[in-house]
Amino acid sequence: MLAGIDLDRASSMPLYLQLYESIRSAILSGQLEAGIRLPSTRDFAASLGVSRNTVASAFEQLFAEGYITGKVGAGTYVAQIDNATASSPSFAQPDSTQLPCNLSQRGMKMLALRETIFRYRHDPVRAFRPGVPALDRFPVEIWSKLMAQHWRYAQPDLLSYGDPCGYRPLRECIAEYLRLSRAMRCKAEQVIIVSGSQQALDITARVLLDPGDAAWMEDPGYIGARNVFLSAGIDLVPIPIDEQGLNLEVGKLKCPDAKLAYITPSHQFPLGYTMSLARRLELLRWARQSGSWIIEDDYDSEYRYQSQPLAALQGLDDSGRAIYMGTFSKVLFPALRLGYLVVPPELVDVFAAARAVCDRHSPLFEQAVLTDFITEGHFNRHLRRMRVLYAQRQAALVGAAQPLKRWLKVPPCQTGMHLIGWLPEGVDDRAVSGQLALQGIIAPPLSAYRLEPSRQAGLVLGYAAFDTKAIADAIEQTIPILKEIVENLSSPNSQDPSYFSATDALLSAS
Ligand SMILES: Cc1ncc(COP(=O)(O)O)c(C=O)c1O
Repeated sequence: MLAGIDLDRASSMPLYLQLYESIRSAILSGQLEAGIRLPSTRDFAASLGVSRNTVASAFEQLFAEGYITGKVGAGTYVAQIDNATASSPSFAQPDSTQLPCNLSQRGMKMLALRETIFRYRHDPVRAFRPGVPALDRFPVEIWSKLMAQHWRYAQPDLLSYGDPCGYRPLRECIAEYLRLSRAMRCKAEQVIIVSGSQQALDITARVLLDPGDAAWMEDPGYIGARNVFLSAGIDLVPIPIDEQGLNLEVGKLKCPDAKLAYITPSHQFPLGYTMSLARRLELLRWARQSGSWIIEDDYDSEYRYQSQPLAALQGLDDSGRAIYMGTFSKVLFPALRLGYLVVPPELVDVFAAARAVCDRHSPLFEQAVLTDFITEGHFNRHLRRMRVLYAQRQAALVGAAQPLKRWLKVPPCQTGMHLIGWLPEGVDDRAVSGQLALQGIIAPPLSAYRLEPSRQAGLVLGYAAFDTKAIADAIEQTIPILKEIVENLSSPNSQDPSYFSATDALLSAS
């Protein structure tokens, strides 16, 4: 099996991806037949002279895509693949040996990013996939009734080209909602409807940044934002996060005149902290003085469990430096692909032009149905129900994870749809995540969200989409795996007070 694997250490393609491609090709060509047992990650790594992490990451990807199956301790086997699956276009990743030529600089950057873009694309909605709401609780009947009503009386203006900024009644509803629930300063004219935060980020980068510009990026931070900036040729400046949010002192030392700062102040993604008022005011002062922009990504702050959602930083901005973005992906469902930007009045025209250049505008029927959904009170009702449900699901996760606390600490959080499960420091969280994936448990490693390495290791555990039984079952399955892996990988002395020390300090500070 190893004879066919030829890893090129000089290649820009990561070793794990080369290994993944080799094994995948061998499986698709039939060279590796269904049922064949693969060597353990340890033996594989030793024979190839690569780290165990490299092998675990390759296995994780192969597992996620259905090429291999198995259980920790019981071996990993080549899966039975039917031809329909093997030739499905969703598996058509670029062949590493035939990279397309004549791509633009931007195209080359996109290609280099494909690993992080494709990585979790095939993940089923299964514990603990982060970022997915309770899809089975969405009031589908109400939505389809509203949709049917619009189709019955299909107005020509909903069938024609629309305003690039979006459907006017929806922009009005959103402006009112943001003024009331987020203390924002905004008029409907400043609201631009987009297809989710991803497009909001892309448009913002097009309008405000040039290749080579520097931008402060939360570290750890949101991969979707990182990918937009990297593909636009932006020089990312990683800024560490502490319990008050973005560490501005580091930012000012590293790059005082960055053109932009990307932040998630209501619920830092993924660590979960809320940015303090002092930091918000300081960030706005910096932006005013340096002429920089602030992107406030307010992706899931509706889910605040002990109080009302927090006021947005945008509402404190009196000098027009803050660009706010919200999404319906978490409060309704991600496939809707609707979100919004709130931009300072003087930027509305340029953002509207950029929005039109992308894909003219978002689908009008969905916007009209969403407007009815909000104005008829269904939106608020759904939110209220989901707040109660997610608080219960979070509590279920924290409670179920108690027996794991020697290897994984899962502290609660006041906001959001995921928690961090902290592993002992120095443990390779990618390897842990890879081993869990072999068991069918999705728990992305914290290090995947980092720009700079850190000894703090963890797993990002989504809970919103899973009922308490699914959460308890997945934790139950996790216990023996974590015990074996963490103890093997780190051989920590559990009596050693430094075993969890920095993490404990961080947790108690919050
Ligand atoms: C930090 C952050 N922003 C935004 C989003 C939502 O992205 P979109 O609106 O493109 O679905 C997510 C989803 O996971 C997120 O984690």
